[in-house]
Amino acid sequence: MKTVKVNLGSRSYKIHISAGVLGELGRHFKAYPDVTKVVVITDKNVERFYGEIVTKGLQTYKQDVSVISIDPGEEQKSLPSAEDLYNRLFELDMDRRGLIVAVGGGVVGDLAGYVAATYMRGIAYIQVPTTLLAQVDSSVGGKVAVNHANGKNLIGAFYQPKAVYIDPQTLKTLPRNELTQGLVEVIKYGIIRDASFFDYLDKHLPEILRLELGILEKVIENCCRIKAWVVERDEREETGLRSILNYGHTLGHAIEAVGGYKGHRHGEGVAMGMILATSIALRMGLTNEKVLEEQRQILQRAGAPTYYREDTEALFDFLCHDKKAVAGSLKFVLPVKIGKVVLKEVDAGIVKEVLAGG
Ligand code: NAD
Ligand code: GLY
Repeated sequence: MKTVKVNLGSRSYKIHISAGVLGELGRHFKAYPDVTKVVVITDKNVERFYGEIVTKGLQTYKQDVSVISIDPGEEQKSLPSAEDLYNRLFELDMDRRGLIVAVGGGVVGDLAGYVAATYMRGIAYIQVPTTLLAQVDSSVGGKVAVNHANGKNLIGAFYQPKAVYIDPQTLKTLPRNELTQGLVEVIKYGIIRDASFFDYLDKHLPEILRLELGILEKVIENCCRIKAWVVERDEREETGLRSILNYGHTLGHAIEAVGGYKGHRHGEGVAMGMILATSIALRMGLTNEKVLEEQRQILQRAGAPTYYREDTEALFDFLCHDKKAVAGSLKFVLPVKIGKVVLKEVDAGIVKEVLAGG
């Protein structure tokens, strides 16, 4: 079992990473003796694969275990879905000493976490992420949210879980395209903070793609360690440090939005966004061609796209109207070298030129 601690004073918690931990949750949860009732929130895909093993395990801890299974998909991250969940929790007589266990990808984790943060002014929850993206990113750090007509994740809170349990074995049933979305975030961690991790990924990518469990455990542990380091220093994204986690995301989000969320997936947008951000850094003389090429190669080997060839004008317009655009300049996280990024204001003219391929 690998363990990473997130040090946040009274809100500190541990992330436990181990192949097989999904079937052993009952034993681990004995560390939380005061809980009255357990409600697992999951989605129908995840329930099909893992509902039984999770419930059986948890029943060795508490007799009173209920499962609420939502439809899969980003549309579920909504206020109406949250309200459905509140109603179900009241029907189950969930009280303030109940525990929510979020078993699934980032959609389940963000929605269940948001419900936990708000039901009766906040009850405890534990994250059990089952996608690579959720294991290295969304389950750690306490950002919980639902979407709003005005944009993604606009209604939410910073609300830390009591613990995170990660079983890399769950990745065996994950569709390959979902794995790619998570791999882009994994590669991002190397670029933003850890050059030797980037080299490790470059060397071990074939084993990662073959889902070799020992390597996956190490990779997930390292990503969680980096995320914990950042979150400990800027939990509420106030100093600018936490924004380094958004490397490639401003452009990636614009790519997703311009495609009406039907073209490129989130990780694909981030992959192209990281390459575009590096092109901006190159144009500003902040970095060199090798940094661009190294990223492009590993992202391509991971199965992610690295050239945005669609509507660059619409992309530019979206960026200018996005909330991050202020008085003719846009803020981006830009790489200096592998392992180091900076947050910089960029003149909108430079962004336009780079997007146009100039
Ligand atoms: P997701 O939760 O939609 O899961 C992707 C698909 O995989 C779903 O169809 C799901 O049912 C299925 N699935 C999950 N685990 C599986 C498994 N082990 N085997 C087979 N199928 C499985 O998507 P995601 O990529 O995990 O999360 C995306 C969400 O995460 C977005 O809403 C995004 O905003 C959010 N997010 C949040 C944070 C944060 O800090 N809170 C960070 C990054 C992303
Ligand atoms: N996924 C970005 C963050 O947690 O801040």
